Amino acid sequence: MPELLLGQTLSFTGNPWHLPVDEAVQHIRNGAVLVEGGKIMAVGEADSLKAAHPEATITDHGSHLLMAGFVDSHAHFSQTAIIASWGKRLIDWLNTYTFPEESRFSNPRYAAQVAETYLDLNLSNGITTACAYCTIHPASVDAYFEASQKRGLRMLGGKVLMDRNAPDNLRDTAQSGYDDSKALLQKWHGTGRLSYTITPRFAPTSTPAQLEATGTLWAEHPDCLMQTHLSEQHEELAWVQELFPEHSDYLAVYEHFGLLGPGAVMGHSIYLSDREWDAIRDAGASIAHCPTSNAFIGSGLFHATRSHAAGIRTGLATDVGGGSSFSMLRTMASAYEIGQLRGDALHPAQLLHMATIGSADALHIGDKIGNLEAGKEADIIVINLASTPVIAQRTAQADSLWESIFPTIMLGDDRAIEAVYIAGQRH
Ligand code: GUN
Ligand code: ZN
Repeated sequence: MPELLLGQTLSFTGNPWHLPVDEAVQHIRNGAVLVEGGKIMAVGEADSLKAAHPEATITDHGSHLLMAGFVDSHAHFSQTAIIASWGKRLIDWLNTYTFPEESRFSNPRYAAQVAETYLDLNLSNGITTACAYCTIHPASVDAYFEASQKRGLRMLGGKVLMDRNAPDNLRDTAQSGYDDSKALLQKWHGTGRLSYTITPRFAPTSTPAQLEATGTLWAEHPDCLMQTHLSEQHEELAWVQELFPEHSDYLAVYEHFGLLGPGAVMGHSIYLSDREWDAIRDAGASIAHCPTSNAFIGSGLFHATRSHAAGIRTGLATDVGGGSSFSMLRTMASAYEIGQLRGDALHPAQLLHMATIGSADALHIGDKIGNLEAGKEADIIVINLASTPVIAQRTAQADSLWESIFPTIMLGDDRAIEAVYIAGQRH
């Protein structure tokens, strides 16, 4: 039975990082989305879709905004419980908060409980897809994918590979990391809406032997993505140079071990040299921009306009729990603030693009999700553009679409997410 969702609709017809916003966005004030069999069948004027589909059941979302669900291109589900931990920069933050928390995932029951909490928080914030780091424990991956499957979500993720510079109980080996990842990949990759992602944490926590084995695994399974962290903090860069003195820069380490390619998703990527920018572009690799994390851990200012101008697939990411929010609205606000600190006022259309189709493209699933258009899977969110008193009084003054949306980006949170549809089913 087809269903018609009524509201204002927002779809991308092009990329607002490369085209004038008017050419890149289609907004229909009295719009409708026709959903059937978990897919979007049509987006158009409510009157004409109602007339063409009199059999459809109607759900009227009034003046709320219908758009594609948010896509979080980099997060750590295992850090849900340590979000907002005070006072540390990256390496101390990992040792003080992250590693002790990730150790708790040796208990599969704990992993299952956090997976539930993580997905509930994602959904209440309108995140319908994420690409997550689990922990070194295979059971953490099972917990994550089982909970995702139960909710019918399109999700990506993988077991963290880490065989040095971490506590004893959080280290695998080059061989066991390879074997466990391969078994998990064979179990989960392509199961329903799930995709396995090969996940070496970052160069400092893997020996050359592990990076080598990981490169081999990826070469054997090139249809999987590979995610890691790159160039996030100065202390980290110095550490990489100390551990890998034979390589000219951070990215060269990954390149050497076969870990740069079209399916690579590089988290952060703040302090790149011209050579590294060119190599990422030439490889067709993606970058996940993690603005709240970069501000919270004190990392620095990612160059979003340069990344887009280079034609690099660039997604937006919460990086929970280094990132300080589950809200993709708050994450867009942080990206805006970082843009301002760099001298670039990012347009709300550019922020929304990065949070949806930009992230979906960075994860190579832009053909399936990330936009409100016919043929895409019906992962749809409904946004209230007047969800709090401060936003309501600001939007009351708005005389354009973007003036009515930008206050929700800057001031909104989970209260703005009125409804979420997963493959056409209301959550
Ligand atoms: N670099 C290596 N591991 C991590 C992590 O868990 N979070 C962040 N933000 N950076 C990292
Ligand atoms: Zn991260």
